[in-house]
Amino acid sequence: MTTTVETARTWKPVRDELERKGVSLGFVPTMGALHPGHTSLIEQSLAENNRTVVSIFVNPTQFNDPTDLQTYPRPLDHDRALLEDLKVDYLFLPDRDTIYPDDCRFEVTENEVSKLLCGAHRPGHFDGVLSVVMRLFNIIQPQRAYFGEKDYQQYQLIKEMVKAFFLGVEIRRCPIVRDPDGVALSSRNALLSADGRTLAAEFARILKDGDSPSAVRTALEARNIEVEYVEEMFGRRLAAVVIDGVRLIDNVPLVGS
Ligand code: PAF
Repeated sequence: MTTTVETARTWKPVRDELERKGVSLGFVPTMGALHPGHTSLIEQSLAENNRTVVSIFVNPTQFNDPTDLQTYPRPLDHDRALLEDLKVDYLFLPDRDTIYPDDCRFEVTENEVSKLLCGAHRPGHFDGVLSVVMRLFNIIQPQRAYFGEKDYQQYQLIKEMVKAFFLGVEIRRCPIVRDPDGVALSSRNALLSADGRTLAAEFARILKDGDSPSAVRTALEARNIEVEYVEEMFGRRLAAVVIDGVRLIDNVPLVGS
């Protein structure tokens, strides 16, 4: 049975008891709308730890577009059922006041990598991500936390934040999960039309097969796909596009990386 905990105050005795018993704790932070990409993170945590906690919190501070925040899918009953099926030990389901008791007066800011790629197009996005992850780590106190390679820049920044602030959590990185048509799994894919879905598959294929970032951009634009960026960094080729008004990101390792 998955036990739901809603506040930092009620989580503390649970965490203390696990500590007393010497039980290891893995953590998968999410914004819900769980899909097989999340399942793979959760399964890795279940395999590597005695207990696993998944959080669901649609973090308002990482959305720079109010419509994106409003339309973000929130299928809580489906998510709860999935966590039960997977035999996840705990669901942490906080509200805004639990996460931001200071009403967002304090935040974590990063001044280099967070300004590039997605950060250049979503001002403040990564400050919101780092701030919520820092707060969640401090509440949950996990030994290990699991992040997908799909959000590669996010993974990179969280790994570096943990190092910079001497946080005692091991960051585990998990591979991208793709549908048979090559589209990287994302909660936002549910918002695509049938034609949009076909273009999303083209996006995945062109990103992988293109000879260079500029060739990828040209091929995408030839299909009327709006391109935010295509760049190479961290040994990977990364891109963000907008299809059907839905922002999609993806990345692939560079050959030889
Ligand atoms: O990757 C996500 O779903 C979110 O950015 C995270 C890490 C849960 C923080 O809100």
